[in-house]
Amino acid sequence: DEDELQDRIVAARRALGDRVVLLGHFYQRDEVVRHADYVGDSFQLARAATAHPDAEAMVFCGVHFMAETADLLSGSEQAVVLPHLGAGCSMADMADVDSVADCWEQLEALYGTEADDQGRQPVVPVTYMNSSAALKAFVGERGGIVCTSSNASAVLEWAFERGRRVLFFPDQHLGRNTAKAMGVPLERMPTWAPGRPLGGNTAEQLEQARVILWHGFCSVHRRFTVDQIERARAEHPGVHVMVHPECPMPVVDAADSSGSTDAIVKTVQAAPAGSTFAIGTEINLVQRLAAQHPEHTIFCLDPVICPCSTMYRVHPAYLAWVLEELVAGRVANRITVPGEQAEHARTALRRMLAVAP
Ligand code: 13P
Ligand code: SF4
Repeated sequence: DEDELQDRIVAARRALGDRVVLLGHFYQRDEVVRHADYVGDSFQLARAATAHPDAEAMVFCGVHFMAETADLLSGSEQAVVLPHLGAGCSMADMADVDSVADCWEQLEALYGTEADDQGRQPVVPVTYMNSSAALKAFVGERGGIVCTSSNASAVLEWAFERGRRVLFFPDQHLGRNTAKAMGVPLERMPTWAPGRPLGGNTAEQLEQARVILWHGFCSVHRRFTVDQIERARAEHPGVHVMVHPECPMPVVDAADSSGSTDAIVKTVQAAPAGSTFAIGTEINLVQRLAAQHPEHTIFCLDPVICPCSTMYRVHPAYLAWVLEELVAGRVANRITVPGEQAEHARTALRRMLAVAP
């Protein structure tokens, strides 16, 4: 039962001591994050992955691309363990390397490969952290960079200095919301639908493009709607509506603020007692914030419970199992990024860490 699982996790952690570091994303369920040494958003966890080079293993309670990133940024001897190998991300799966390479070839044919007289490349590729290591390597090898939801505008600024255009993937919404806030007009942000010639655009549209947005999205965040915001405002006058930038543009525009999971947490922490928040992000985080802040009224914008189903696969039973394996001297579910891919992917990640330390 649940209590027994919790006892097993605590006992295994005690037996392992400092040999193991446990990282947990904000979207993980409480029964898992309560055991984490670090809880954070994907950028904070990427940084935390570099902070314990002496630990033998890092158990990453999150999804596959985060564990890959931890493997890239931690020491090569350190094993990174993902408690459930099926904990992927449907958005990351929307940009496979073959489709992106096909897009890249078409763009090269259209724009050429020469820098302009200010030294700017025709296109700079930017990948959201929510992507495979193979894609981060693709980007790293082509002068590109990684971003997260907490540093997307600083990273886009970096890319605009180096390129006449940006190819942004996989999340069209984060790309659109960020570029729009930076003043890029919507007509200069075509969307690239993989599998169609020119991604479903005309050559003229691509010629005047500033940001080309890959047709990816988060199935959790795209559920939030402007109707839900209007209802929250009608039922709770004075409510502060706060959403994640993976939400569609009309939702971000209608909200009072948008930000990464960590920005959402910090806004709640800084608010005067008695505040009311309607939050558009994953339910585990919203419910935890509500429990931790009884001085506020906090609820999810979507009345239907909407967990990230892949994050949710990290059940305490898997956590107990991988920890007990480590106690027994075995490493289960190790995530490793192969050599040459790792080198290029690390280049793209290090560029991000230099832009937004
Ligand atoms: P952040 O942790 O960067 O806010 O991203 C949310 C998310 O969707 C993680 O998969
Ligand atoms: Fe992927 Fe969305 Fe889940 Fe984040 S919340 S892991 S983007 S599916």
